[in-house]
Amino acid sequence: MLLATRYFKTLIILKSQDEIKRIAEACRIVAEALDGVREMVSPGISTRELDSFAESFIRSKKARPAFKGYRGYPASLCTSINEQVVHGIPSLTRVKEGDIISLDVGVHYRGFYGDAAVTLPVGRVSEKARRLLTVTEESLYSGLKKAVVDNRLSDISCAIQGHVEAAGFSVVRSFVGHGIGRELHEEPQVPNYGRPGEGVVLMGGMTLAIEPMVNAGGWEVDVLEDGWTAVTKDRSLSAHFEHTVAITAEGPKTLTKL
Ligand code: MF3
Ligand code: CO
Repeated sequence: MLLATRYFKTLIILKSQDEIKRIAEACRIVAEALDGVREMVSPGISTRELDSFAESFIRSKKARPAFKGYRGYPASLCTSINEQVVHGIPSLTRVKEGDIISLDVGVHYRGFYGDAAVTLPVGRVSEKARRLLTVTEESLYSGLKKAVVDNRLSDISCAIQGHVEAAGFSVVRSFVGHGIGRELHEEPQVPNYGRPGEGVVLMGGMTLAIEPMVNAGGWEVDVLEDGWTAVTKDRSLSAHFEHTVAITAEGPKTLTKL
């Protein structure tokens, strides 16, 4: 790996093409695990069942669930239902028709990490919930499109925020996306809000996990007593989509897409 850019206190690790290939291998397992879990989501399934599937799937690929044990996090999957923003812990709770559920998976494979999340409707959901899911996913793609060489980091952030706020929703401030590679969380932080043209200049070889967290109401969040589960302060619905992307001379490469 190549040590790259120092920008104030930011040290961003640029990856070679070979390293990006290896991150892509971890990301492929992430995407396959998410696909499998996605198919299981229906009214009545418990979040623990989803977690067990994800863990055995990941281990069957000779990979390791990246979240399990990370700062004491107890599971392989984050399952965040309705007003839960991120980091919901799998439990005996069963999802029901009308819920939305965010599924976040990380994998460590042969020295590299991959990380992705989707939010799904459980059966039929409200019009507002559907719109929240659509707008949040679209905001991820509007950010991804800005992940090109010579743009600035906050061009990604600004595109996400612009798309979300135009739809009348809000972006979470206290959690951000991140660089990813030999560590799950590398520099830089990737906020989902900001003015354009600020932060580091994007370079080929940067690998980022871009992950808008979008609330139907206000942007403020609380963390529950379990020390993990983030919920909206006003208990409005929240959605979360995430991809790991490589910035290359040929443009952004989304690595967590099959
Ligand atoms: N996608 C999240 C992240 O970036 C999930 C982390 S869950 C944790 O960081 F348990 F690993 F913290
Ligand atoms: Co992440």
